[in-house]
Amino acid sequence: TTIEWEAESYDMDGHDTYMHKEICEQADAVDRVLRGRIDDRFATVHLGGLGIDAREARAVRRVKILGCGSAYHAGQIGAQLIEELARIPADAEPASEFRYRNAVVDPDTLYIAVSQSGETYDTLAAVQELKRKGARVLGVVNVVGSAIARETDGGVYVHAGPEVCVVSTKCFTNTAVAFALLALHLGRVRDLSVADGKRIIAGLRRLPEQIAEILRGEEEIEKLAGAYANARSMMFVGRVRGYPVAREASLKLKEVSYVHAEAYPASELKHGPLALIEPEVPSVAIVPDDELLEKNRATLEEIKARSGRILAVGHQPQDVADHTIVVPRNEPELDPILLGIPLQLLAYHAALALGRDIDKPRNLAKSVTVE
Ligand code: G6P
Repeated sequence: TTIEWEAESYDMDGHDTYMHKEICEQADAVDRVLRGRIDDRFATVHLGGLGIDAREARAVRRVKILGCGSAYHAGQIGAQLIEELARIPADAEPASEFRYRNAVVDPDTLYIAVSQSGETYDTLAAVQELKRKGARVLGVVNVVGSAIARETDGGVYVHAGPEVCVVSTKCFTNTAVAFALLALHLGRVRDLSVADGKRIIAGLRRLPEQIAEILRGEEEIEKLAGAYANARSMMFVGRVRGYPVAREASLKLKEVSYVHAEAYPASELKHGPLALIEPEVPSVAIVPDDELLEKNRATLEEIKARSGRILAVGHQPQDVADHTIVVPRNEPELDPILLGIPLQLLAYHAALALGRDIDKPRNLAKSVTVE
């Protein structure tokens, strides 16, 4: 009922775990998803497998993205990118929720199924139900020729290469980049200007080197992980672009280290979770230098006032935080792709410090092919 990777068939390349290997491969993986797709002349991208012409792309009124686990979180980043760059209302939903709530299937909505394996049962079942009702469904999938890739009308391959560790890292990042490409494409057939197209392309091209720069900071993150591994629970917060980053980082920590974690939109803290904040419950705050920086600083103050420890991830050191992991700045729309990467390392080193089975966390499977 679950797909077992033949782990032995992939070289560990000198790493002790696949998770570490796959985290370290991300600069190359992002390079691969970009390769051959950028069109500088028209400040857009070519996505050969999409199967939608410009007129059809312009007729899309809404985008609904479906996936499970990390794929769902990558889809949340994707929905924001599509709204920002293409100005099409977009949102992401867990595939299982969608299929069980008898959702209204709308002919003007573009549906997108996201899956690393392309075999997750709930996502596949959602695709089949949509197809049965005549909807247009695209796939954002890693495994070429997988069930979801075959059943969708077209899509964007993620090209992350084989991911062996149960916990998704490089595939999550590449999926977010694939969505940036799709959003840029949809934007440029609609109202995104040439100047903005060029700005996003330049940002995409900077990603591999910036990822490499983040990974060079591993030692510092390893030290921090030791300090957070013994937390009773951790709170991850972010706003808008930072919120899916917080959710994925929280999931990553739970899956691999078994440290309890929750993710909240920063402004929701005061509506309940603030009651949990105390020194034994540290917070990780995603605080990019965007138009919400001042709002995010106010959140840090709120947490500090309850004597909570804070690890900030952003573009400059935050005074109120106990530590800040400084990440290189890209274009604001693309920043979420980078902000989560140090938190993959944080989860990894917390799990290592706690002696966890990193590549095969208890109770989890790489691919869930049952309901
Ligand atoms: C499982 C894995 C997760 C993964 C999810 C979706 O639960 O443990 O890491 O994100 O399935 O998998 P998919 O292959 O559809 O992306």
